Amino acid sequence: MLFLDEFEALAARLAGDVEKIGKQAIGLLEKHTEEHPEMLFAFLRETKPIFVAHGFAVVTRFEDVQEILNHPNEFTVALYLPKMEAISVPFFLGFDNTPQYEHDVSVMRLAMNRDDLPSVASFVDQTANQLVADAASAGKIDAVSGLTDLVPTRLVARYFGTPGPDEATQLRWTRILFNETFLNLKDDPEITAQAVEASAEMRSYLDNVIASRKAEIAAGNAGPDDVVGRLLHMQSTAQTSLNDTSLRNNLFGVIVGAIPTTSKATALALNELLSRPDVLIDAQRAAKNDDNQLVAAYMSEAMRFAPQNPGLLRKCAVDYIVAKGTLRETTIPAGTITFVATQSAMLDDHIIDEPEDFRVDRPPYHYMHFGSGMHTCFGQYINRIQIPLIGKALLQQKNLRRVPGSAGELIQDGPFPTSLPVEFDPV
Ligand code: HEM
Repeated sequence: MLFLDEFEALAARLAGDVEKIGKQAIGLLEKHTEEHPEMLFAFLRETKPIFVAHGFAVVTRFEDVQEILNHPNEFTVALYLPKMEAISVPFFLGFDNTPQYEHDVSVMRLAMNRDDLPSVASFVDQTANQLVADAASAGKIDAVSGLTDLVPTRLVARYFGTPGPDEATQLRWTRILFNETFLNLKDDPEITAQAVEASAEMRSYLDNVIASRKAEIAAGNAGPDDVVGRLLHMQSTAQTSLNDTSLRNNLFGVIVGAIPTTSKATALALNELLSRPDVLIDAQRAAKNDDNQLVAAYMSEAMRFAPQNPGLLRKCAVDYIVAKGTLRETTIPAGTITFVATQSAMLDDHIIDEPEDFRVDRPPYHYMHFGSGMHTCFGQYINRIQIPLIGKALLQQKNLRRVPGSAGELIQDGPFPTSLPVEFDPV
């Protein structure tokens, strides 16, 4: 298998520097998973389900992926924190199981609670439908720049009270910062430099928002009911000890986590549906019938084939035996950089029935789009609404199809989709 050969060559070249081997191996793995995901993961699942060598591990079976993500003390998020610190924004996805983690997540959960979901749904539905309606007479839209980028950007503007200086800047910041924090393990200096600049700009923007909202509140104007306003209320009533800087860092992290992920996940799911004409017809029927649950099932299943990311990263803190008591049990030594292949887990036929089939009757616990365990996506309940509703607005259009030829292909700029032109019968 080419990946294994290239990995051994890399390990030989880096002669025992396990930290470097681990980080570079992730880039190598991602290259192979982008090119032939099923092939590499299927090979590893059957031959080396818990692959460990030279300070690097890849875990590919469903149960093992869940085991690791549900052992946050043994498999930590230590790799994220230095990245966050380098851009001066330590934030709770980089914290392990500490009181600070619990405090920050709890405060943010109170500020963004599930009672908001109906109004989030209605905002997303209206925004997505309006964008598609504006394109209805032309019968074409860029599903990324004209839809999936804009809806989460507008939701963050309205729900959080942080529109950014303008939509393009907000989108650009969040893409750069997501790329640096979670994807730039190889420490590409160009990406880091962009992120340092974007971080300074975004921090200064958020600091200004906080300062001006505080000044307005002091002058007796509570302002809109949004996440910033709620956080400031919690701060002023001593419900949280977070100071302005920590409060800004939490906002920063959640905003960066919200926009590029939602856009990418939705765009890739739509792209997958467009590549499956029979499935597309059924998904469109569900959309036309306003069957939100069924549309969600189509989007979720499409994301299983085209996920937002192939896996998550952890660093092993102690020698740990994965899948203990089974024939595949393997010790992952302390210090090992571990790639937890959620994409592979969702294709594992030991747990997932006929994983190669597109089915909309799978149980929700077979999906790991939003991770698992302590760090499960903070936005998961919003995602379960937002991604399908954006998809539905487009799927409701008659005779939805790609623009013919290569012009209709999804284009990515680095890790993020930037364009997916589609056509439909004009209204
Ligand atoms: C409103 C949108 C979103 C927000 C506010 C958000 C925010 C976050 C935050 C704050 C975390 C860290 C949670 C923690 O450490 O406890 C997280 C984790 C995660 N998010 Fe999201 N996210 C959003 C959308 C998405 C989408 C669309 C996807 C994928 C389709 C996604 C996938 C993930 C995954 C896989 C993790 C776990 C990371 C890990 O375990 O290393 N998120 N998200």
